[in-house]
Amino acid sequence: MTQGGEISLNSGRVASRGRGGPGPGGPSLPGMDALVRLDEVTKRYDGDTAPAGDGVSPQVSPGEAVAVMGPSGSRKPTLLNLIASLDRPRVCVLVPTRNEAGNVGPLLARLGPVLAGLGGEVLFVDDSDDDTPAAVAAAASAAAVPVRLLHRAPADRTGGLGGAVQEGLAAATAAWTVVMDGDLQHPPERVPDLIAAAERGADLVVATRYAGEGSARGLSSRFRGLASQGAGTAARMLFPRALAGVSDPMSGFFAVRTAAVHPGDLRPRGFKILLELLVRNPGWRVAEVPFTFAERQHGRSKASGREAARYLRQLVALRLAVAGRAGRLVRFALVGGSGVVVNLVVLAVLLRVAPGAVGTGPSGHIIAAVAATQVAVGWNFALTERWVFPGRPGHWVARLLPFWVLNCGALLAQLPLAGRLQPLLGGSYVLATGAALVLLMLARFAVCDRWLYRLAGRRRATARP
Ligand code: GDD
Ligand code: MN
Repeated sequence: MTQGGEISLNSGRVASRGRGGPGPGGPSLPGMDALVRLDEVTKRYDGDTAPAGDGVSPQVSPGEAVAVMGPSGSRKPTLLNLIASLDRPRVCVLVPTRNEAGNVGPLLARLGPVLAGLGGEVLFVDDSDDDTPAAVAAAASAAAVPVRLLHRAPADRTGGLGGAVQEGLAAATAAWTVVMDGDLQHPPERVPDLIAAAERGADLVVATRYAGEGSARGLSSRFRGLASQGAGTAARMLFPRALAGVSDPMSGFFAVRTAAVHPGDLRPRGFKILLELLVRNPGWRVAEVPFTFAERQHGRSKASGREAARYLRQLVALRLAVAGRAGRLVRFALVGGSGVVVNLVVLAVLLRVAPGAVGTGPSGHIIAAVAATQVAVGWNFALTERWVFPGRPGHWVARLLPFWVLNCGALLAQLPLAGRLQPLLGGSYVLATGAALVLLMLARFAVCDRWLYRLAGRRRATARP
């Protein structure tokens, strides 16, 4: 490692260097020995000839702790060593880390030799508050493969572990991305088996604890074991088809064909990013490779009650996201039914509990009915926004007026429509009213689903290298 000495570049594009850490605008990577900033590193770097970025050559030797960063704020990963080709690697091992200072060194020591033979690189996506970045930088200087680090500032740590994996997937250029934990519970020596299975013809290879020789003995307690099984059972009940034949959908160790993932379509919440990939891509060819979940080496697990709650929310959100039109229609009908109940309750309250507020007699009834209808439409709108069509583009305010017109229009149409249907349905007015309600609900759904809440035209799959 450099001893805080001067690092010179042929051109003047050094942002900062030396023990003092990065200069203004750079991320804070505590303890890093030297930080050189290039806007882009594109050219190949061989052995101890100069690494090049637009003709810029840092006078450093291979193995020194040098960080090459993308433009500030670009959230591009930082290359921590300049020891190998910067061309597209075959395998990117993506390691999410949060306070793993004691583990990243031993992890890189075991990963390096494994990846050197595979044409691999390591990408850490780090949300640490301890000195994990410095530990990564130090270990990178001795590693035999390129090591990159994407350190997320506290304000950018959306999605926790899953969000980190999402950002890593967006930054990965390798043919295969292998996601593994940074605490050595996932044996690096299994990575070649994952890649071999992937290259036999799969989009996703899950390292499983629950098939073949696999084992979960490293789970910290019996309770964790039970919780893990329970989480798996719940997921299987909600997504029987997508998870069929996958023995460990909760695994944090897997390989995925990088180009098959559209990171922008993921909505990760916490730990179970593999589950989300499986559920959102039911057509993927999935293979499995057994492994033994080892015991954690240093530090503590970040699993917690908060993570469990996040997981439950993620299950619900995923179920809603992939339910398709039939699922949306069922929810829309349920919301409509609940709106009728709200309507009746408000009406009863106005007429019985506070008759003075609306006056007595026929005009009082009309005022009460109109007021109750408005409350019910508001109720329907709120639930439709949050539960039937969550996460749609645009602002809810822009949808409020069309939604209101649609609902009031449907109400006005109900009586004449029932009148028309009555002779067709054997003269039963009750039946005709029921049929009118169902038809109008379907019509409202069609307008909402196809127009008011339509998804923006799906972006073309972003061309990925
Ligand atoms: N970047 C980032 N951000 N990394 C995180 C975060 C976060 O918020 N939370 C945890 N990590 C990292 C940890 O540093 C570790 O490298 C890895 O993600 C797994 O976290 P652990 O805290 O070690 O999780 P675990 O061992 O309890 O759970 C693991 O095994 C489970 C199987 O039972 C994970 O792989 C789970 O995904 C898996 O389901
Ligand atoms: Mn762990």
